[in-house]
Amino acid sequence: MHFSDILISWYSKYKRELPWRNTISPYHVWLSEIILQQTRVAQGLSYYNTFVKSYPGIEDLANDSEDNVLKLWQGLGYYSRARNLHATAKIVSSEFNGVFPATYDEIIKLKGVGAYTAAAISSFCYGEKKAVVDGNVYRVLSRYFGISTPIDSSIGKKEFQELAQECLSSENPGEHNQAIMEFGALQCTPNPNCETCPLQTSCIAYANSAVKAFPVKAKKIQVRDRYFNFIVIGDNDSFYIQKRVSKDIWQNLYQFPLQESEKEIISPLELEESLVNKSVFLKVSEQYKHVLSHQRIYAKFWEFHVGELPSLNGCKKIKKSDIAEFAIPRLIEKYLESIKN
Ligand code: ADE
Ligand code: SF4
Repeated sequence: MHFSDILISWYSKYKRELPWRNTISPYHVWLSEIILQQTRVAQGLSYYNTFVKSYPGIEDLANDSEDNVLKLWQGLGYYSRARNLHATAKIVSSEFNGVFPATYDEIIKLKGVGAYTAAAISSFCYGEKKAVVDGNVYRVLSRYFGISTPIDSSIGKKEFQELAQECLSSENPGEHNQAIMEFGALQCTPNPNCETCPLQTSCIAYANSAVKAFPVKAKKIQVRDRYFNFIVIGDNDSFYIQKRVSKDIWQNLYQFPLQESEKEIISPLELEESLVNKSVFLKVSEQYKHVLSHQRIYAKFWEFHVGELPSLNGCKKIKKSDIAEFAIPRLIEKYLESIKN
């Protein structure tokens, strides 16, 4: 049997039953692929179900507000995915009459949709012969064919895309694409059990006892440390929140007024006067560590009391009990949980 036949027959036996696998609706497949881009199936599944329930069709998604969409996305991370999802739904609704485009070349023009997602939608829903390449596919191909070109180099990306395309089944590109990704997710994992693998006898990495050396990466990702000081300022039952505008992380989510510092600060006297003007320092939280793919965020929450609330730049005063209506980063949610009791 050939590479593709082995993958497809393995897939038919071991695939997980997942709701987006029982549909060829491009809206549902698109939604699932956007959710699964940087998220594991175990975490994405409940979000997928919530979205489908809240927005049975793309028009329902388009007609809701971005704030509500972000609220449903809360906790998944990489929030630009949710903003792009909503923007794309609006465009499909207004410019394509609510009908999702049907070819790879049209789908890839949509906001938030790259080569991977366009290949997934066009092959799963329309049988177009376009190979998907995601992290799973890099791992399977690099090991099976013993390719050491770095996957994070432009030459590597091109090479793997071409190889994936050559391997792709002509009869069943959608099934092949699902199969190779599922194979990477369940069998050829970062720490695989090669003894149960149907590709073992022809796998180059296995033959060379070099499975863990693949895939090869050129650069180590640079992780940056940041120090966030959130100012929790208010009275007994209200505080200020602001919509985060900066494009680095959490754009359009809500947070407490923020002062970022170069290093950890330990005294409320180091906070900017304009943020804490005329208020009384109460206490500071423990330091929270929040790890993202390229940043480590060290956060403290500085609590202040004011009798009369000043007007803070771009902030709005809300009742503490209304915070549940706003989309907030998981980090802030953790802090709020800790002060609940
Ligand atoms: N990860 C990305 N796309 C997926 C899919 N369609 N099924 C399972 N995991 C995935
Ligand atoms: Fe992956 Fe091991 Fe199978 Fe090779 S033998 S394809 S490394 S699981």
